[in-house]
Amino acid sequence: MLNGTFGKPKSNSLMGEYSTLLGDAVLRYRTRVAEHTARLESELANRVKSEFISNMSHELRTPLNTVIGFSKILAGHDRRRLPDEEIVEYAQLINDSAVHLLSVINDILDISKIQSGKYTIDARETPIDEIIQVCVTSLRKVAFDAGVTIDNLLPQYLPPVRGDAAKLRQAMSNILSNAVKFTPKGGRIVIEGAATKDGGLVVSIADSGVGMTEDEIMIALTPFGQVDGTRARWREGAGLGLPIAQALIDLHGGRIAIKSKKGEGTIVSIMLPSRHEVSAATGRDMVFGHATPE
Ligand SMILES: Nc1ncnc2c1ncn2[C@@H]1O[C@H](COP(=O)(O)OP(=O)(O)OP(=O)(O)O)[C@@H](O)[C@H]1O
Ligand SMILES: [Mg+2]
Repeated sequence: MLNGTFGKPKSNSLMGEYSTLLGDAVLRYRTRVAEHTARLESELANRVKSEFISNMSHELRTPLNTVIGFSKILAGHDRRRLPDEEIVEYAQLINDSAVHLLSVINDILDISKIQSGKYTIDARETPIDEIIQVCVTSLRKVAFDAGVTIDNLLPQYLPPVRGDAAKLRQAMSNILSNAVKFTPKGGRIVIEGAATKDGGLVVSIADSGVGMTEDEIMIALTPFGQVDGTRARWREGAGLGLPIAQALIDLHGGRIAIKSKKGEGTIVSIMLPSRHEVSAATGRDMVFGHATPE
């Protein structure tokens, strides 16, 4: 063992070597971790991208193929006579597909307009209970066919909110249609609502459907995000309904809260601020207070 004046430099250089080696090892480890993380991120991004492309092309191609196929049959009517009922049926299929296609395209345009911050709402006194009733009525048949009941337990009177009726209807209908879509046969949807202490209101749409984990809720709120994004998923859609609903409620100065449990169901609460808090002709950049449940 080296001591004193001769030993020190040797031990110092040994320590120096160790620390250089250790530093290199740490650097190599960090690089490996960073490479691994980057690889995972790019794999995930590629997966999401290819699922998105496959979903979107399915969403756009399916109705377009229906339109092309059935309109061709109708166009050949003078060569091969079709019974009246077939003509009506094909025309109806073409109409349904075109309406669906338009709604997917509208959703894509809406989300890009919202993301660019150019989306504005036309705020006026709006009866939210009537809006919800209209949404329930328009979804009754779909729910009935799916074997799902909708119980509208809103109180007799809910204070009107200051908002854009068309946009609020779009938001409510997106949330309610999800509840119907992701609730299996025999399930139940309950709509409740109440005024809040600060003059706003809260409406909740609870379903007994498939539910989501915390991570899945995050995915669901991302534009084009679907929990089961593969083509084999049990229901169709572009993955835009929920983020659009959230953005529209946000534009009203409100907020959406989602509570869900996998396999048990989901509760989406929509909180809207008091009408005094929202001024007319609201723009995206305006800041509003949030309603809090009583
Ligand atoms: N009530 C719910 N219960 C369970 N999962 C839900 C519910 N609402 C939304 N999700 C999940 O969140 C995803 C995103 O919902 P979103 O409404 O944005 O898209 P979508 O319904 O798939 O398609 P779109 O609404 O554009 O037709 C859904 O695909 C689904 O996986
Ligand atoms: Mg949806």
